[in-house]
Amino acid sequence: MKILITGSKGQLGYELQRSCPTGLEAIYTDSAELDITDRDAVFSTIAELKPDVVINAAAYTAVDKAETDKEICYAVNAHAVGHLATTCRQHGVRLVHVSTDFIFNGEKQSPYQPEDTPAPLSVYGDSKLKGEQQLLEALAVDHKAGYAIVRTSWVYSRHGNNFVKTMLRLMNERDQLGIVGDQIGTPTWAHNLAWVCWQLALQSEVNGLFHYSDSSEQTQGISWYDFASAIQSIGFEQGLMCETIPLGAITTADYPTPAKRPTYSVMDTCRIQKALGFTAPHWRDSLKKMMQEV
Ligand SMILES: NC(=O)c1ccc[n+]([C@@H]2O[C@H](COP(=O)([O-])OP(=O)(O)OC[C@H]3O[C@@H](n4cnc5c(N)ncnc54)[C@H](OP(=O)(O)O)[C@@H]3O)[C@@H](O)[C@H]2O)c1
Repeated sequence: MKILITGSKGQLGYELQRSCPTGLEAIYTDSAELDITDRDAVFSTIAELKPDVVINAAAYTAVDKAETDKEICYAVNAHAVGHLATTCRQHGVRLVHVSTDFIFNGEKQSPYQPEDTPAPLSVYGDSKLKGEQQLLEALAVDHKAGYAIVRTSWVYSRHGNNFVKTMLRLMNERDQLGIVGDQIGTPTWAHNLAWVCWQLALQSEVNGLFHYSDSSEQTQGISWYDFASAIQSIGFEQGLMCETIPLGAITTADYPTPAKRPTYSVMDTCRIQKALGFTAPHWRDSLKKMMQEV
């Protein structure tokens, strides 16, 4: 089986590369080798390589910058997904695509189901929703190879820029830190997300829209402040910092950002766990494993 991966130098791409199941032929491309906004390049690459599956790990993920960088954000997250999907349809290729919790507005108070109504608050969230819609337009009906969209949240890995690495740096530089305590979600180690993407690539009978994050107690989710507190206590235990610093919970209003984020974005992951027959690892166990690698 041949699998083409886009965006292979990002967090997810990196974890896909180091967890490729044996016996597969994986072709990894990043923006330099395959710019997914280039419709002709997408078409000719897929026509030439004839993969069985494409995993789209490419995305424009600068959530705040997207508010002023709209054109490129929509080009990568929306229109390019349309090109990929149309080409996959023409060549009978399965498509595994990754989306985000930021397509929701955060007004719910219980975990979001895949069918809940999206209402993005930001350009990034809207562009990712448009990407989902363009994919569904091309592949939802009569595409034998199938497709899977997996929405995820709060992704981190050893590779790339993310909250965990930023916190570790700031905790070593500052005397104290204020962290947003009124946004609730669930972290996801990109390593676990990569495993889910490989399974979705291989299990062609599993099709549709899914949610995946690591798990949390009674699916209640955590705040960024809770996440930072765990990063500090695990980091201290593991010798990644010499001393701990006081952490305080601040409000979203105290930390204004260009892009509005959902206050609550915990997602229900039952469907994917059932479809793939596994139990999502707890976010804290995953965080410990990732931090052992830092
Ligand atoms: N990070 C999160 O917290 C988070 C949360 C929810 C959902 N997600 C979703 O999860 C997926 C993986 O995210 P991630 O954290 O791994 O992202 P990431 O680390 O930002 O990686 C994205 C990759 O896409 C590449 N890319 C950007 N534009 C491209 C283009 N035109 N053609 C080809 N490649 C291009 C980037 O390459 P360059 O650097 O060369 O541009 C980069 O290697 C994305 O779909 C994202 O929307 C992420």
